[in-house]
Amino acid sequence: MRKVLSFVLALLCLQAQAQTFSATSPNGNIRLGVTVSAAGELAYTVTYKNRPVMLPSTLALTFKEPAVELRQFNVQRVDSTTSDTTWQPVWGEYSQIRDHHKQLLVSLKDKSGSDIAINVVFRVFNEGVGFRYEFPQQAKLNHFVLADERSQFHLAGDHKAIWIPGDYDTNEYFYYTTKLSQVDAGSGKGAQEIHAKTFFHPNAVQTPLMLKSDDGLYINLHEAALINYPAMNLVVDKTSFTLNSHLVPDAVGNKAYLQTPAKSPWRTIIVSDDAREIIAGNRMILNLNEPSKVADPSFIAPQKYVGIWWEMHVGKSSWDYSGSQVGSNLQIAKVPHGATTENTKRYIDFAAKHGFKGVLVEGWNTGWEDWFGKWEEDVFDFVTPYPDYDVNELSRYAASKGIKIIMHHETSGSVTNYERWMDTAYRFMKKHGMNAVKTGYVGRIIPRGEHHDGQWMIKHFERVAQKTANYGINVNMHESVRLTGLHRTYPNWIASEAARGNEFNAWSSGNPPDHETILPFTRLMGGPMDYTPGIFQIKMNAYDPNKKEQVHTTLAKQLALYVTLYSPLQMAADLPEVYEKHMDAFQFIKDVAVDWDDTKVLSAEPGDYLTIARKAKGSPNWFIGAITDEMARTTVGALSFLPKGQRYVATIYRDAADAHWEKNPMAYTIEKFLVDSNTKLSLKLAAGGGAAISLVPADATNSKGLKRYK
Ligand code: NOJ
Ligand code: CA
Repeated sequence: MRKVLSFVLALLCLQAQAQTFSATSPNGNIRLGVTVSAAGELAYTVTYKNRPVMLPSTLALTFKEPAVELRQFNVQRVDSTTSDTTWQPVWGEYSQIRDHHKQLLVSLKDKSGSDIAINVVFRVFNEGVGFRYEFPQQAKLNHFVLADERSQFHLAGDHKAIWIPGDYDTNEYFYYTTKLSQVDAGSGKGAQEIHAKTFFHPNAVQTPLMLKSDDGLYINLHEAALINYPAMNLVVDKTSFTLNSHLVPDAVGNKAYLQTPAKSPWRTIIVSDDAREIIAGNRMILNLNEPSKVADPSFIAPQKYVGIWWEMHVGKSSWDYSGSQVGSNLQIAKVPHGATTENTKRYIDFAAKHGFKGVLVEGWNTGWEDWFGKWEEDVFDFVTPYPDYDVNELSRYAASKGIKIIMHHETSGSVTNYERWMDTAYRFMKKHGMNAVKTGYVGRIIPRGEHHDGQWMIKHFERVAQKTANYGINVNMHESVRLTGLHRTYPNWIASEAARGNEFNAWSSGNPPDHETILPFTRLMGGPMDYTPGIFQIKMNAYDPNKKEQVHTTLAKQLALYVTLYSPLQMAADLPEVYEKHMDAFQFIKDVAVDWDDTKVLSAEPGDYLTIARKAKGSPNWFIGAITDEMARTTVGALSFLPKGQRYVATIYRDAADAHWEKNPMAYTIEKFLVDSNTKLSLKLAAGGGAAISLVPADATNSKGLKRYK
């Protein structure tokens, strides 16, 4: 039930005096203060249990046309409302989400005579604070150009920061952990494996940014509902610990072209003294997004999939027909074309045998000879297969096995070309029985001068989400902007990459063992990631004795990632022939759910460790994932969330005693025990390791001979 109390705060004080307004979170822990100085400067503060989170932080906007500054505005009125509602996501980590917040709407008017009106809206949740700028429809403001937004986040100290370099084009960096005063975005310049990167400031970082104060406050900064506006980076002032928003510009340096009514995205501050609550706090970002615009979500398909994909990344086969492209560095080395009719049938058979719904096929269409690094406009047409890929036969074969082929649209950054082809390409998919597409934006963007994270591309990503929804298609975007909770509005936008995925482990320095303990506190705050876990053949020298690369993990940790890295779309990324050798461990990937009724974060410290338990949607089964960084450790998990009195069979997939991500990554053990809500698990995780557990209600057949867990 929606309960909204609205009242207008008396605003009788004279404009010459500073004015102060405040709001507290429903549970009283978070307090927001908003002040407007006598000179007209707007600032806010945030405290958590009376500890400072944001010192006075100013909010500023500059319009280019018409030339207007937020500083020249006066407060007209402040409306305070409360809202308490509950909604059901189409898919997700919870079956129900409560949105309980207090709102302050500050209405401002230009005092220099233009009469332009702007609102700044604040919402205070138990999880944190969100604020945004609103530009109502009005006679005096119709079209306008935003030159800049300067929203400040003035932190109370030199906090520990987990960050990636600020960049207009890529988010595929591994994370750096330093004090704010030690941020050096230039350290990411050596990331040669990332093709299109655009640094702009040595002190710039991206969001979601994870911070921890010396006295144990966890603070997460990000944005929600990024629509029709550029993405926000943050530039760190290393002496005052003030972070200033920096919007991604277009080719001529403008930030956004808007028409009233318009809104900025929400700027989000999630805060807690318990790291587990930061992860659970990602619901605040969803609550700041609009409800679903997909009227009939019946085509939306959370799923696990396999595909012709890792074999190219490890250099076993090629995307292009002539067989010249291997891995990301594209050396000339003749290997077979991966996307052949025969090979695709092999994957379809494997998927059907093991209960997967989808088979991704990359390299099926012409163009791959020219796709990389050329900044060329017309490379792919998205409808012309290579001669050894029989689309009609494969559509028939896949349908006969109950499998759907997942389409691949690599745009090579030529978005103008993709825009021209989109309708034709989606009709082609529907004609051939496909309802899911993986898109990709490797390389510099065309139109030239635009960036992956600028307003033009943000609008493109939304257009793709809308158009695919109209065609009844699920979309998974790679090299897209980082997510901001828009999957609430477009639940067919089922995942994105938008961070450094598992693929980097195949052909670069890879992802350090702490990477996956960080992602849930950073990239995943905005939404699900197509990380592509499940690599069992961990060392790449199995494919080529000269290769030194490896996944920085144990095998058991790869299983745990299906639980700790939430996504409704999860790949079993390794090759069928690798899985065939480890069917006992593969069973966990077959069993684990991708859509959940409930989620409990049992233990968490960003960059160190994480244990999450989730209840499968519409099923009594639970799954647990526990992971660690490069340190071996024992993690304890109380199963008190299980229904009282119900015994469960726990199948524990864990690191063997001598497992180690570097020295012995593939050593694992599988055990079964009886457990209940009184059980406390104690799991030994190897260096770079993890554990995965499935919990199924015990009955006479599945529990025979099993011992109680001790
Ligand atoms: C980068 C994507 O992240 C990867 O998954 C894909 O295989 C290649 N681009 C080729 O499109
Ligand atoms: Ca990528």
